[in-house]
Amino acid sequence: MQRFAVYPGSFDPVTLGHMDIIRRGASLFDRLVVAVATNTGKRGLFTEEERVELLHRSVAGIPGVEVRRMSGLLVDFVRETRASVVIRGLRAVSDFEYEFQMAAMNRKLNPEMETLFLTSAESTSFISSHLVREIAGMGGDVTPFVPTNVVPELARRLAMIRSQG
Ligand code: PNS
Repeated sequence: MQRFAVYPGSFDPVTLGHMDIIRRGASLFDRLVVAVATNTGKRGLFTEEERVELLHRSVAGIPGVEVRRMSGLLVDFVRETRASVVIRGLRAVSDFEYEFQMAAMNRKLNPEMETLFLTSAESTSFISSHLVREIAGMGGDVTPFVPTNVVPELARRLAMIRSQG
């Protein structure tokens, strides 16, 4: 039996923190599906297609990892893909409340699905997509925080937004 897990998130954009969790998750399971979720509350910087594409390029070469879009509930996606484990990264105590609540609600919706938390590496525990967007938006250097392929795409996207006024 193959060990199979899903790593869901917004990935707007993927960061080196996400990459650390992907690499470590991939080493624990035979297959890891990185699931790019539809942003319900928040308006994204990148479209879902763009986020998937950025992830595709970032995970190239990591064995057993695939990237998919997830449009509905996580529990439904997990059922459809026949995984039983969901991986989430935990950076700090501040993440805990939200993650604990989400894991509990998901468990209620699907008691067979387990959420597995990986604490982030010390070198990436301070990185968030939100701050990456803010820094890039104000002209700061985001190369220490995101995979190399994401840097020019961020610049391109922000230039496009600026040109649209
Ligand atoms: O990277 P994020 O924004 O912290 O990821 C949150 C995500 C995508 C994992 C969460 O919002 C999610 O699972 N969305 C799918 C819809 C869903 O199942 N919502 C109910 C969660 S209890």
